[in-house]
Amino acid sequence: MNAPRQHEPVRWGILGTGGITRSLLRGARRTDAVDVVAVGSRTLDRAAEYAREHGIARAHGSYEALLADPDVEAVYISLPNSLHHPWTVRALQAGKHVLCEKPYTRRHTDVAAAFEAAEHAGLVLCEAFMWRHHPQARAIVEMLPEIGELQTIRATFSFVLDRPNDIRLRADLDGGSLMDVGTYCVSGARLLTGEEPELVFGTQVLGPSGVDVRFNALLRFPGGAIAEIMSSFETDHRGLEAIGSEGTIRLTNPWLPTDPDPILIRDGVETPIGFADSYQLELEDVSAAIREHRPTLLGRADAMGQARAIEALYRSADSGLPVRL
Ligand SMILES: NC(=O)c1ccc[n+]([C@@H]2O[C@H](COP(=O)([O-])OP(=O)(O)OC[C@H]3O[C@@H](n4cnc5c(N)ncnc54)[C@H](OP(=O)(O)O)[C@@H]3O)[C@@H](O)[C@H]2O)c1
Repeated sequence: MNAPRQHEPVRWGILGTGGITRSLLRGARRTDAVDVVAVGSRTLDRAAEYAREHGIARAHGSYEALLADPDVEAVYISLPNSLHHPWTVRALQAGKHVLCEKPYTRRHTDVAAAFEAAEHAGLVLCEAFMWRHHPQARAIVEMLPEIGELQTIRATFSFVLDRPNDIRLRADLDGGSLMDVGTYCVSGARLLTGEEPELVFGTQVLGPSGVDVRFNALLRFPGGAIAEIMSSFETDHRGLEAIGSEGTIRLTNPWLPTDPDPILIRDGVETPIGFADSYQLELEDVSAAIREHRPTLLGRADAMGQARAIEALYRSADSGLPVRL
């Protein structure tokens, strides 16, 4: 097969047919940079039904078969958390670029192994924190100097999870509220400080299935800022707020910015951000990185920072003690 030209869309395969793939496909339909050509599921029936529903050319009855499809250049992995790393490694071994759903892992050694494999093979690997691709993420960072010294960050993301069989409640699949929505709060605190935490203290409430259904934490950053984060499956709340010596900035809808469109509020003054599809922007970023041989917005350092922080937070919650990184 001839090497694809720079302007040709990247040919993507969808690995797993879970709920989030629908948002990604909506983003894919909005851009010429992406062509979704195949889907792989654990059963052929499911793959075929999904391919029919979404107008995808080829359906594979196993993830292995999708990875063996020579026409697929890149795969989007949206499996339960514990399967992200093993299937990313297998995809890289099959010569595919990978966009893998967040959280890539709670083990920083997985991040190192995966990015080493990707770099060695000359392949792109990216953790899918779609919220970072929305213009509001850039807007809040650009406005930060206006509020003086950044002192406190408040980041929350929670929703009521009332599906007892959900993957997020399965300990064997690396579920838990910190792993699911709390990772956005960690990502938000790291973005606003531009640093990695040096000390964390986390405390959790475990549900009947053994995963944290609530997680509250403090993260102290070397520049002096402290982030207060909360994730939960027991209430509905979300926000990202930067409190500085000379004012505050808040995003009304930081993590899922299309639902509804977000507003940035600086000391009571509202700036509407406007519509942008984070999934489209994420796919365009990774596809451009593949075609143009340039880095993705989120690379190894970001995935490593996320995994180290999450790992330390769980260690702290398990031990009841602060953890120094
Ligand atoms: N970025 C975002 O906006 C966002 C939003 C939601 C979720 N996510 C992330 O995306 C991932 C998937 O979440 P989701 O809500 O799409 O989950 P989901 O609806 O439960 O789908 C997970 C899919 O994984 C596959 N799978 C493989 N082994 C499985 C197992 N043992 N149990 C259950 N499913 C299994 C299944 O696909 P097949 O049956 O086709 O094989 C299933 O449809 C998670 O890591 C989550 O954190 C990201």
